[in-house]
Amino acid sequence: AARLPEGYTIRPLRRSDYYGGFLPTLRVLTTVGEPTLAEFNARYDFISSRNDTYYILVICDETATVVGTGAVIVERKFIHNMGLVGHIEDIAVAKNQQGKKLGLRIIQSLDAVAEKVGCYKSILDCSEANEGFYVKCGFKRAGLEMAHYY
Ligand code: ACO
Repeated sequence: AARLPEGYTIRPLRRSDYYGGFLPTLRVLTTVGEPTLAEFNARYDFISSRNDTYYILVICDETATVVGTGAVIVERKFIHNMGLVGHIEDIAVAKNQQGKKLGLRIIQSLDAVAEKVGCYKSILDCSEANEGFYVKCGFKRAGLEMAHYY
C-alpha cells in the first residue's frame, strides 16, 4: 500500500468534519453548495446509521486538516449469489496536495474495505481525464456510464 507522507493520517469521516477541509476538498470535485451545520449533521447521521453500507474516509495533513476524501457504498444484490458490489464515489484530493499518492492511498483503503466486507468487485464512473489515475489504482475500463438528470 502507498505510504502517507509523514504526519498524515487516514480515518473515517467525523461529524466534526463540517469544520475544516472536508467541504473545501470536495469542491475540487464538483459543486457542493453551502450546507448549514444542521443539514450536514442530518446527512452525517443518516450515513452513520447505515455504517454497514456507507464508508467515507478522509486523509488529514500534519495540521489535522482534511486534504483528501473518498467513499464506497456497498450494494447488496440478488444476482451473483447474493453478491455485494462496492460503488466508489466522490474521490477528491485538495489541489495543492495532488501528486503525493493521496488519491492512490484513498482508493487502496476503499478497496480494502470493499474486499473485507465481501464485495466481489468495486466499480466507479470517471471522466476520460481520470482514466490513467484509476488504471494506476488497478481498475480497468468496463462499460459506459449513462445518466438521466431530473
Ligand atoms: N491521469 C493519469 N495519471 C494520473 C492522473 C490522471 N488524471 N492523476 C494521477 N495520476 C497518476 C499519478 O501520476 C500517479 O502515478 P505514479 O504512481 O506513476 O506516480 C498515480 O496516478 C497516483 O496518483 P496520486 O498522486 O495518488 O493522485 P492524486 O492524489 O493527485 O489524486 C485525483 C488523483 C483524485 C484524480 C485528484 O487529482 C483529484 O482530486 N482530482 C479532482 C477531482 C476528481 O476528478 N476526482 C475523481 C472523480 S471520479 C470519482 O470520484 C469516482
